[in-house]
Amino acid sequence: MSNLVSEQKWSWWPLLPLYPYGRKRTIFRELVPNQIWSFEQLQGIYYVAVPVRLLVVRVKNELMIINPLPPTNELLRDIDVLEKKIGPVKTIVLPTASGLEHKIGLPALARAFPNAKLWLCPGQFSFPFQLPFDWLGIPSNRTNILLADGFPHADYCEWISLGPIDIGLARFQEICCFHKPSKSLLVTDALVGIEDTPPEIFDLDPTPLLFHSREKGSEELIDTPIARRKGWLRLVLFASYLRPEKLEIPKIKEIFGNSLKPNLRNKRAHFGIYPFSWQKGWELSAKKIVGKNTPLIQIAPVIERLVFPRAQKSFLNWLNKIESLKGVSWLISAHYSGKIKFSTYEIKVLRNKINNSDWAKNEGDFGFLGWLDQKLLKLGVVPRDPLRKFSD
Ligand SMILES: [Fe+2]
Repeated sequence: MSNLVSEQKWSWWPLLPLYPYGRKRTIFRELVPNQIWSFEQLQGIYYVAVPVRLLVVRVKNELMIINPLPPTNELLRDIDVLEKKIGPVKTIVLPTASGLEHKIGLPALARAFPNAKLWLCPGQFSFPFQLPFDWLGIPSNRTNILLADGFPHADYCEWISLGPIDIGLARFQEICCFHKPSKSLLVTDALVGIEDTPPEIFDLDPTPLLFHSREKGSEELIDTPIARRKGWLRLVLFASYLRPEKLEIPKIKEIFGNSLKPNLRNKRAHFGIYPFSWQKGWELSAKKIVGKNTPLIQIAPVIERLVFPRAQKSFLNWLNKIESLKGVSWLISAHYSGKIKFSTYEIKVLRNKINNSDWAKNEGDFGFLGWLDQKLLKLGVVPRDPLRKFSD
């Protein structure tokens, strides 16, 4: 095994088998000089991969990690550089109750920093049984619960809860952090900013983009800037709507007819199996959710449609609190674009957009998510009043 491959190894991948499985490349960047650093990996299903981010935040002369990721040697080596420069990692925060992709790295990360205190969003669950923290690899003797046990570094950070919202099997809640020294609002899934060009992490391996840039399985994966951009827009559509309107699934006969062509009989090309057929107009759909020169700030469509249609109040309360923060200038989210301008003006634009939008859309690209929401509601899996359980 080459040195780099072993540095990027993540042996616990079968716990949550997401692409790119056992090898996690990480991109390390400084987002706010001397204050906030980003570690990005890719994660997804069937080459539908979007960036997911761990943040290292400076608090005085120590470091706080927000949103764990699988701690490969490569990632730990770069954190070590920061520790030598600034100070030790003393705090690890898991600010979300629902996002599995942010939880999966926590036990290994906690082991990598045995002196760090852990702070968890309330309402953590394990499936299918509720297990004690220690059984899940989370050391209870150094674990605190946000809100109930207070907040870490309250003199440097303001912590603002979005939710809780009852989503049936679990709750949606995240505790966002306003890091005052950098004027940055750090969120997990609450808001994202999406650009129309692929993030830098795909430069390490553009395969997911090239895979989805094709029209059928018999086409080879050819790397061009146009193919990368096309693939990116389609990935964004998949990740946003699960099943976008302009996507059709071809008949089985057609899928297999196009498979196993010469040059495609390999794992990378999934042996030519490509069960997608993009219809005219897909690019127009994508352009609605990506920003041209700056990332388009939005509630991720899948969350907007599945979490908030009956809990808008929660989101608006949260946004009010965000608006009242003094000096907020940047948004740093755990997905997609890193640091985005987010001052009173951008917040106002977002508020107007939200006020004018229908939270329970069932048409166009929202067709599948709308159908799913109605189905879950009918089956009683999700409650009609998702705020009632937490109202007292
Ligand atoms: Fe997430």
